[in-house]
Amino acid sequence: MGESFVTTTIDGRQVRVPADTTALEAARSIGVDIPTLCYHPALVPYGSCRLCLVEVKRGNRSRIVPSCTYHIREDGLVIETHSERVLRNRKLVVELLLARCPNVKLLQELGAELGVQKPRFKAANPDENCILCGLCVRVCEELIGESAISFVGSGPGREVATPFLEPSEACIGCGACAFVCPTHAIEVQDVLN
Ligand code: FES
Repeated sequence: MGESFVTTTIDGRQVRVPADTTALEAARSIGVDIPTLCYHPALVPYGSCRLCLVEVKRGNRSRIVPSCTYHIREDGLVIETHSERVLRNRKLVVELLLARCPNVKLLQELGAELGVQKPRFKAANPDENCILCGLCVRVCEELIGESAISFVGSGPGREVATPFLEPSEACIGCGACAFVCPTHAIEVQDVLN
């Protein structure tokens, strides 16, 4: 059976894509830029950062969804990537990320673009650089085939760490985790020299 296609409208432009394409991929295929933090084309989308929110309209109904995990499976959807509602939600996402990591330059730049003034929320640890996007955990597991790091803890204490916070025997020192980290929260150290 041949591949099926769906037609959708993104920011006023019609695009025809294979059914099941994500809204993010469809938008990028026509050059529409949607900001992302936890997305990497080589990894299974995880939908954790919520920065890539878009508005999907079907008839009179509309809802806000993360574009990296939203699959287009029907004709006639209307997707807005920069509507007023999208920008308002995206701004709140950045504000919350900045509340966790106030000194991350990338977040500061995104905040400035979206008009985040002084964050309304106070950081528990101003030196925190990890936004818990999970890219490092996924690249280790999905691409490298190891599980040297994982999420541990829950709530405000949730973090990415090695098992029992000890040097991980599964780590092959490839540095892929540091490479994909969007906020440079991971530092690679050569312990042999
Ligand atoms: Fe889509 Fe993070 S990039 S939720």
